[in-house]
Amino acid sequence: MKRTRSGNSAKADGGVIKGKPVSASRSEMSEVVLPAETNLLGKLLGGHVMHLVDVVAAMAASRHSNSYVVTASVDYIDFRNAVNLGEIVILMSQVNRVFSTSMEVGVKVYSENPLTGERKHTTTAYVTFVALDEFSKTPRAVPPLIVKTAEEKRRWREAGARRKYRLAMRFKKRNREE
Ligand SMILES: CC(C)(COP(=O)(O)OP(=O)(O)OC[C@H]1O[C@@H](n2cnc3c(N)ncnc32)[C@H](O)[C@@H]1OP(=O)(O)O)[C@@H](O)C(=O)NCCC(=O)NCCS
Repeated sequence: MKRTRSGNSAKADGGVIKGKPVSASRSEMSEVVLPAETNLLGKLLGGHVMHLVDVVAAMAASRHSNSYVVTASVDYIDFRNAVNLGEIVILMSQVNRVFSTSMEVGVKVYSENPLTGERKHTTTAYVTFVALDEFSKTPRAVPPLIVKTAEEKRRWREAGARRKYRLAMRFKKRNREE
């Protein structure tokens, strides 16, 4: 059996995939904003932020699934505050929910002024990854996610609502293409 459900364990190819807690794959990245990554106003390029979001989110997804992963979709992304040249950009990711072969990862981006220590929330993004089998490169089942805290449970619930919208959009897009 290939598919998993959210719970503490699920069957895959006759074996049992043990659930993993959110904390096992939580990831973080940070870097200093250098001139090559800024626009003419000295603000970090939005495209560079999106690249970092994809990388830190993939880290959490591949740690959770112990698999190669591909980005299936990125939800709406907005920039609440700019990140300035010389500031530190900090990205934190965690798996919000797993489905069968896919995982929604939430990413929060902060800027930190190293002179004052002030931290600002810049961006929140949700990225969906699909785990691929190493050899066939087809989607493979991922371990269930064990959610413990009230915050993890809230994220898990909200990820369910986002998935409905996301897959509805995918269906619409596919129909237009056909
Ligand atoms: C993502 C991809 C593997 C899905 O393959 P597919 O043949 O459409 O697979 P399926 O329809 O069987 O779906 C597999 C999983 O992907 C999910 N999925 C597919 N498209 C999705 C989308 N747009 N958003 C969110 N999830 C999506 C499905 O819900 C399913 O998840 P589940 O098993 O947890 O229910 C395939 O479209 C792909 O390889 N895309 C290119 C990925 C890539 O190159 N990314 C880098 C950026 S260009």
